[in-house]
Amino acid sequence: MPATCVVGMQWGDEGKGKIVDLMSEGCDLVVRYQGGANAGHSVVIGEQSYAMHQIPSGILREGVTCVIASGVVLDPEELEAEVAGLVEKGIDLDGRLWISDRAHVVMPYHKTLDRLREAALGDAKIGTTARGIGPCYADKYNRSGLRVADLVKPAGAADRIRRAVAVKNAEIVNLHGSEPLDADAVVEQFLAYAEWLRPRACDTAVRINDALDAGRHVFFEGAQGSLLDIDFGTYPFVTSSNASAAGLAAGAGVSPRRVDRFIGVAKAYTSRVGAGPCPTELKDAVGDRIRERGREYGTTTGRPRRTGWFDAVSVRQSVRIGHIDELAVTLIDVLTGFETLNVCVAYNLDGARVEHLPADAEALDRCRPVYETLPGWQEELGGITSFDDLPAAARDYVTLIEERVGAPVRTVSVGPERGQTIRR
Ligand code: GTP
Ligand code: IMP
Ligand code: MG
Repeated sequence: MPATCVVGMQWGDEGKGKIVDLMSEGCDLVVRYQGGANAGHSVVIGEQSYAMHQIPSGILREGVTCVIASGVVLDPEELEAEVAGLVEKGIDLDGRLWISDRAHVVMPYHKTLDRLREAALGDAKIGTTARGIGPCYADKYNRSGLRVADLVKPAGAADRIRRAVAVKNAEIVNLHGSEPLDADAVVEQFLAYAEWLRPRACDTAVRINDALDAGRHVFFEGAQGSLLDIDFGTYPFVTSSNASAAGLAAGAGVSPRRVDRFIGVAKAYTSRVGAGPCPTELKDAVGDRIRERGREYGTTTGRPRRTGWFDAVSVRQSVRIGHIDELAVTLIDVLTGFETLNVCVAYNLDGARVEHLPADAEALDRCRPVYETLPGWQEELGGITSFDDLPAAARDYVTLIEERVGAPVRTVSVGPERGQTIRR
C-alpha cells in the first residue's frame, strides 16, 4: 500500500503509536500532520519503552524518514528534549527528520495563555494538556502566528518575536494579572532553536508528494482521536485541530484521493482524559479495574484517564466521517476477567433512542447508554497470536464491534509489545 493513514477513533490514546511502529516496517516516510506536543505515543520494544510527542513513531524503524508536516504546531522546546531522549536511547536521527517550514511554532506565551485561560474558565475548563495547542492554533487562524519559515529567516525573526511577546504580555498582565514574559529571553531562546531548525526545515508537501509520485510507501500518523476533532468532536471539549481523518489533506498537503487505506485505531473500551461528556464512563470498581489493568495514565501529563465501556455510537461516527477501511482494536487483553461486558449500541436521550452523536455537549452529557451485554472471558490474551486461538467470547466481542461500528477488524492488539498483535 503506497499511502496508509492511521487515525484514532475515540478520545486519543488508542495505541496509535504501537500500531504505526508495527505497520511502518518497510515504509519510506512516516508523517505527523496535526496536533503537537499534546500527543503522547508510547511504544514498547523489548525492554525499552519510548514516549514520542511530536516525532512520528516511525523514527524507531531503521531507514524510515520522519516528517513533521505543516498542520502540526511545532514546539521547539519540547522537540529538543524529545530528540535528546531518543539520541540517548541510541536512535540515530541524522537526516531522518524533516520539518515543514509552514508549521506554526508554539511559543512560551501560548503555553502561559493555555494555563491562564484554563484557570479563568474555572469549573468550565477543558482540561487541556497545557502545551499551548489551542492558543497557537488560534493565532494561526487569526493570521498572527509565527511559522518555522519566519523563525529560520536570516533577518526579522527577532523583531517579530518581540512584537508578538508585547501583544501577548498585554493579555497576560492586564487580563489575567500574571507576570509578563521577558521578550529578550524569548528572542535568545528561539534564535538558538532557529539554528537547529534551519537545516531540517523544508517544503514537506513537495517532498511527500514527490515520494508518492515515485511509488514510495508513506505512512500518515494521526494524533489524538476523532472524538477530539475540532469540528466533529465533543465541542468545546476537544483539541484545536482536525484529529479525525479529515486532518490529513490540509495538514500534510496531500490530496485525500492519494491515500489508499485508512486504518482506525480503537480501544476495546473507552478512555478519556480531560473534561467533557463520556456517556459510557464508569465511576466505579469496574472503571478502576480497567484503569489499572490498562495502565490508563496520560503519557504527556500523567493524569489518570477516565474509563468506560466501548461506545459503538461514537466510534461509528468516527468510522463514517473517516471512511475507515479497517479497524485495529487495541488493549483487548485489559478486558480479561469480567463475567460480562457491555457495548453501548445507542443512547437514550430524554426518553428517545438516539443513534448519532448529538452536536451539543450538554445533550451528550444527558445521554444514557443502551447496552448490549456479552459474556466475558477469563483467559489472559497476551500470548495469543492467532484470531482463532482467542476465547470464543473475545471473538464474539470483536465481531459485535465490527457489526456495530461498520468496519472490519483486521488487527487485534493483545499487549503493548510489537509481537503482541494478531493480524487477520
Ligand atoms: P495519542 O497520540 O496521545 O492519542 O496516543 P496513542 O494513541 O499513541 O496511545 P498511547 O501510547 O498514549 O496509549 C496507549 C498505551 O497502551 C501505551 O502505553 C501502549 O504501550 C499501550 N498499549 C498499546 N496497545 C496495547 C495493548 O494491546 N494492550 C496493552 N495492555 N497495552 C497496549
Ligand atoms: P489540548 O489539545 O491540550 O488543547 O487539550 C484539549 C483536550 O484534548 C483535553 O481534553 C486533552 O486531555 C485532550 N487531548 C489532547 N491531546 C491528547 C492526546 O494525545 N491524548 C488524549 N487526549 C488528548
Ligand atoms: Mg497518548
